[in-house]
Amino acid sequence: MTETKVYGHRGSMGNYPENTLLGFHEAIRQGVDGLELDVHMTKDGEIVVIHDETLDRTTDGTGFIKDLTLNEIKQYSAGSKYEYFTKFDASWSAEKVPTLKEVLELLKPYDIELNIELKTYVFNYEGIEEKINSLVEAYGNERRIVYSSFHLPSILRIKKLEPAAEIAWLLNQPIPLLSDYLKGLQLNALHLDKQVVLANVHQWKDLYEKVRVWTVNGDDEIKQLLDLKVNTIITDFPEKVLFFKSERKA
Ligand code: G3P
Ligand code: MG
Repeated sequence: MTETKVYGHRGSMGNYPENTLLGFHEAIRQGVDGLELDVHMTKDGEIVVIHDETLDRTTDGTGFIKDLTLNEIKQYSAGSKYEYFTKFDASWSAEKVPTLKEVLELLKPYDIELNIELKTYVFNYEGIEEKINSLVEAYGNERRIVYSSFHLPSILRIKKLEPAAEIAWLLNQPIPLLSDYLKGLQLNALHLDKQVVLANVHQWKDLYEKVRVWTVNGDDEIKQLLDLKVNTIITDFPEKVLFFKSERKA
């Protein structure tokens, strides 16, 4: 079995503004194996990297992504709101909501994996899977891409468009016979909330090779999941998880 990988959640959102080019750069600098990000679709059909359905929480703008054009969204800062990072720098206010294309271009020089989470469980962004598929074909083909979603139909559409695509179902509650979903729906992995895993670590033990766990930030839970050899830990603090990993090797 290969060793547990570390993905930066929304970049490195414990220390830098989430889902920004700055945050992705910083996560790469810390040495992550991969990045996790979230996508929505604008009024004019552009794929943007942002967690919520609206601009309100993470930018100085307001409104639904689906009701705004990319140009309108680009007016706002995605780096000026202090939520949970542990430091703040005034220069961060220059950060904008990135497009998926911009992130794929940023990643070009780096050999890291990318987990694209399709935020498709609230609004029906008609055609979003086709747009993402085209962008990845044009700009991201050289790296491992993992498509995930709480909304199962979205990842199944991706698989139809790209039969070799790696798809993963996101779950925040336990479901019986998960291995049958993996097999029956040809899912490549499950992305499980840490509570689901830690509530009964034995229940999932045969699946850990195909399980990525989010969002793992506490020292004890990081160590426990490293012991369990889950496929990947998705964390807001990649540097810390990478440090715990390196300690084990020393
Ligand atoms: O992909 C793992 C995790 O990001 C799912 O939850 O709400 O942080 O996007 P959320
Ligand atoms: Mg996410």
